[in-house]
Amino acid sequence: MKELKLTVNPQKTKSHINREIYGHFSEHLGRCIYEGIYVGEDSPIPNKKGIRTDVFEALKNIRIPVLRWPGGCFADEYHWKDGIGDKSSRKKMVNTNWGGVVEDNSFGTHEFMDLCEELGCEPYVSGNLGSGTVQEMAEWIEYMTFDGISPMAELRRKNGREKPWKLKYFGIGNESWGCGGNMRPEFYSDKYKQYQCFCKNYSGNQLYKVACGPSDKDYNWTEVLLSNVTSQQTQAISLHYYTVPTGNWSHKGAATVFEDSEYYATIAKTLFMEEIVTKHSEVMDRHDPEKKIGLIVDEWGCWYDVEEGTNPGFLYQQNTMRDAIVAAINLNIFNEHSDRVVMANIAQVINVLQAVILTEGERMVLTPTYHVFDLYKEHQDAELLESSIENFITGTGSDRFNAVSKSVSKDKDGNVLITLSNASLDEDAKVVCDLGEFGFSKAEGRIICADDPRDFNDFDKDPKVFPKDLAAETENGSLVISLPACSVVSVRLFK
Ligand code: AHR
Repeated sequence: MKELKLTVNPQKTKSHINREIYGHFSEHLGRCIYEGIYVGEDSPIPNKKGIRTDVFEALKNIRIPVLRWPGGCFADEYHWKDGIGDKSSRKKMVNTNWGGVVEDNSFGTHEFMDLCEELGCEPYVSGNLGSGTVQEMAEWIEYMTFDGISPMAELRRKNGREKPWKLKYFGIGNESWGCGGNMRPEFYSDKYKQYQCFCKNYSGNQLYKVACGPSDKDYNWTEVLLSNVTSQQTQAISLHYYTVPTGNWSHKGAATVFEDSEYYATIAKTLFMEEIVTKHSEVMDRHDPEKKIGLIVDEWGCWYDVEEGTNPGFLYQQNTMRDAIVAAINLNIFNEHSDRVVMANIAQVINVLQAVILTEGERMVLTPTYHVFDLYKEHQDAELLESSIENFITGTGSDRFNAVSKSVSKDKDGNVLITLSNASLDEDAKVVCDLGEFGFSKAEGRIICADDPRDFNDFDKDPKVFPKDLAAETENGSLVISLPACSVVSVRLFK
């Protein structure tokens, strides 16, 4: 048993943790939108206007703050006018990126924007810069946000929506260095400036424009982009980084079958997020010392080989206790960098990659990753507190790193949330907290752990990985948190 000291300075707030750090991503990919979110009004699966009720309630429970849509790679081949109006006459298209399946466009702008409104979350729409025109992008914004008389506002009204929606987050191109057009950063920067120029603020709606940023450690992309665009033209840039256990895209490793060494390799790969966020932030600090431009990690999570027997283009994978550790580490990293990281969106919300929810027909499973978002939700819109922890090294071979990750925040009522993860597979830890002057009346702890890091929640079986209460104890006047091997813990301290 390791004894570690966590020191918190309750007086020293460092940055605001935007609730959007707890965001999600939904793409027209596999069974994310269709089957996962949208089943259609005639489905026997309980739904409201075609949206699954079970999924809706589960997302509300974790207070989903923002949902990105319609892609991903799909966004740069999406033509929004195909997804409005009478469903029976909507155009069908081929989803070239994801399995070559037919996309019938029955889930489009109205369905997405209404869903976000009902969930109380911000919509984050990705515009098509790769294969769409400037006019198409400009008109989409006019359609969604203009309250006056104009061709697009009239079209929206004709399609049943009188008032515009509120739209803040708008992405201009996705992975423009890859599936979004194979561009050089110089070329993309120019295109970005042209497209953004026609993304107007209508009727009091204020857009927060997001430029396509780098892939993992492509610091040159960030450098060139920020040398060319101003904070008037872009409010944030995106960053994509996926955790691939083997580091080999043709053989990524399986979601539920892995050796301990592959577990540690996965954690080492996910910890690389700390390095790339730090280094991109350094580039951003040089160009934007006042931090007017945010960093949005709008695709992150584990990417494994697809489950056997499933369509390789659907990216369906199970989710184990290992994924819970990965989620906990990443969310702690984003909290700790919330001076620059203003949003993050795990890929993807349902049935794709590191999903928080899986569905099969009418059945639904909450994954270990879902429960991490639940344990961490009180960080949303709280203030990050200065904190430090003594650590210890875990891992195997060349994959050795600090076992414990942490972040601590204070909410608007003065309550404190401590979140911790222990990535070691065999060393339990006892965390003794020095909370300075902070006195609390009540402590509520919750823990996610499993008998085995390969444990997952399956359909028609009792869940194996779910939160349990954790008694927070006091020893010699100090709060003591038990942090077993391979666990995620949250402790909420009430003033
Ligand atoms: O999330 C799956 C895909 O990964 C997205 O469509 C793309 O942006 C990224 O390469």
